[in-house]
Amino acid sequence: MIQKFLFNFIVLIFSCLLSAQNTSSTINEEAKVPLYELPQLLITSSGKKINTSSDWEQFRRPEIHSYFANRVYGIVPGSHDLDEVEVIDLEPAALGGKAIRKQVKLSFKKGNKSISMHLLIYLPAGKKNSPVFLAYNFKGNHTVNSDPAILINGKKQSQLSDEELKKFKTSDRGGRTSRWAIDKMLDAGYGLVTINYNNVDPDKNDFSDGIHSLFYKAGQMAPNNNEWGSLSAWAWGLSRIMDFLETEALVDHKKVILFGHSRLGKTALWAGANDQRFSIVISNNSGCGGAALSRRRFGEKVSDINTNYPHWFAKNFHNFNDNEAALEVDQHMLIALIAPRPVYVASASKDTWADPRGEFLAAREASQIYKLYEKKGIVTDEMPLVNTPFHGTVGYHLRDGKHDVTDFDWEQYIKFADLHFESN
Ligand code: GCU
Repeated sequence: MIQKFLFNFIVLIFSCLLSAQNTSSTINEEAKVPLYELPQLLITSSGKKINTSSDWEQFRRPEIHSYFANRVYGIVPGSHDLDEVEVIDLEPAALGGKAIRKQVKLSFKKGNKSISMHLLIYLPAGKKNSPVFLAYNFKGNHTVNSDPAILINGKKQSQLSDEELKKFKTSDRGGRTSRWAIDKMLDAGYGLVTINYNNVDPDKNDFSDGIHSLFYKAGQMAPNNNEWGSLSAWAWGLSRIMDFLETEALVDHKKVILFGHSRLGKTALWAGANDQRFSIVISNNSGCGGAALSRRRFGEKVSDINTNYPHWFAKNFHNFNDNEAALEVDQHMLIALIAPRPVYVASASKDTWADPRGEFLAAREASQIYKLYEKKGIVTDEMPLVNTPFHGTVGYHLRDGKHDVTDFDWEQYIKFADLHFESN
């Protein structure tokens, strides 16, 4: 008994010391943020002051969008519509009867090349026209839930090749369940549409595969300097899924909520900026190149991300390594491109690599554009306390804990979506 008490006491002291150290190291780090000036949201490159939402849409929004497209994420060099839609599985009573499960293969073809995207869809059973969260997953559809009928990259386990079987572990099934609050979504009347982001462009520094290759001109091997890196390709993929969802009677395509975590949170913001059909955009712990202000140089910097992940952004973005001030935009402007649609930025207290304060300040700055539309944004410099969400048309929370997606996060996203869909 005494031993147990002593043990708990020591653990307590140790964790207090650790958290004090964390707080003070965060404060020390904050002191290192350089003096910086953000590019103005409300003044055009030719010096015109923007006072109305229509001037924003006519003059400032297009130029900001074009800076992001040409200098940061990369333009999509052309277009390619969906070539084929194949429903592979339709189960009206999945997950113990509470969900409709649908698995669909979307294909794009050029010559003898073909790229397929394998969608997993869960919708509230017995309901038509459900609002949905649309989200990429990192490790495969079969990791989001232990439902044994989820296909592995479009295949049943028995159909896997020897090579594929070697890579597959039984524990992968449902291995990421904690990041996907599917029950909570279904109970609240929402569905989930998910797909492994590697289907669109494998996440490696190699531009010979993935969707890029279907867009090359004869002899081209890699995107040009202002053309799409992987993030932009993943964003493009979300829009093609939206094309399909517009034809899917079980889904309310006016209520598609884009969600992404981390690199996929960066992707969600860029996809939401490009495509107005997404009605709400949520970025979870998206950090550098996502919601966090680059000029703060806190946590991950532009030079870090371009060095460690050289394929994510357009080549042009590399010109801004350790040279953020030369860029005409910063990430508050990316969030502003989503206005007046609801946008949610979420941080985690221990996720200093993603710069929670930089994410918060970007959301606050973007709120200037929401104000033009008379929508409620963030007006204070002071970050909310941990686990104390702010839900205006701009939403924000700082969850206690590490870089992750948790039930707490999903509870907020569901409330946020309810709030906006009910008020419309
Ligand atoms: C790395 C990277 C981040 C990214 C994260 C992720 O940590 O530096 O920018 O958000 O990976 O996507 O998991």
